[in-house]
Amino acid sequence: MSLLSLFSVSLTLNNHTILNDVSFDVAQGEVIGLIGPNGSGKTTLFNLLSGFLKPTSGSILFKDENITNVIPSKRARLGFGRVFQHFGIFRDMTLEENVRVALEALPRDKRKELGNMDELVDATLDMALLKPYAKKKAGSLSGGQMRLLEIARTLTSGKELFLLDEPTAGVSPKMTHQVADMISKLKQQGKTVLIIEHDLPFIAQICDRVIVLDVGKVVLSGNPTEVRDSEELKEIYFG
Ligand SMILES: Nc1ncnc2c1ncn2[C@@H]1O[C@H](COP(=O)(O)OP(=O)(O)OP(=O)(O)O)[C@@H](O)[C@H]1O
Ligand SMILES: [Mg+2]
Repeated sequence: MSLLSLFSVSLTLNNHTILNDVSFDVAQGEVIGLIGPNGSGKTTLFNLLSGFLKPTSGSILFKDENITNVIPSKRARLGFGRVFQHFGIFRDMTLEENVRVALEALPRDKRKELGNMDELVDATLDMALLKPYAKKKAGSLSGGQMRLLEIARTLTSGKELFLLDEPTAGVSPKMTHQVADMISKLKQQGKTVLIIEHDLPFIAQICDRVIVLDVGKVVLSGNPTEVRDSEELKEIYFG
């Protein structure tokens, strides 16, 4: 069974077609890379998946339930987690507080499932290698460290499907490894990940499958090496 299915999803805004007949399935436990040139519709597709936008036509199914018109907060409760392209960290709060607010925003039964909050806050900071800075203000971190904090915070929230929009943007090569490690751990736990990235070697390293968008359409999909070495990809980026 697919965890997530898109059926012929299109979006037109102000007479401008942004997504055009996008269909694909995501199996539980898959890590899928979504790539494509700037403006090809990747972030917009995430906005449709998390419910911030509604498609003009087509439908989205999650665990066989039609969620096309389901609001974002309900989707989050169903198990969608998201890391945004731009930071969602509160700079005036300590690292510990940043993790805690995210966890406390979860519904009570979910929180219970996750176990002891203090331990979870600790484990989250540990995952991002930021435990020594727990009491520091998040604003004092480097861009890369903030990114890691944000990713770790989403990853420990007990979600099932993760939408990561350019998680390695502004992250140093060393920290990029760490993001890759975090995603591998999620995969081992049977979680499902959709990840938007411009860094092709990174995508090839962690993804089971790659989907390529160009001008709002799926133009290629396959295993990472196949896609990376294909003539079509060169054509899309350099043609
Ligand atoms: N709210 C909106 N109203 C009108 N046009 C929009 C809106 N949001 C996005 N677009 C347009 O939709 C297209 C796709 O944008 P999107 O941000 O999804 O691209 P992207 O693939 O994420 O690009 P990048 O790699 O630069 O992040 C762009 O042409 C953008 O200008
Ligand atoms: Mg984008």
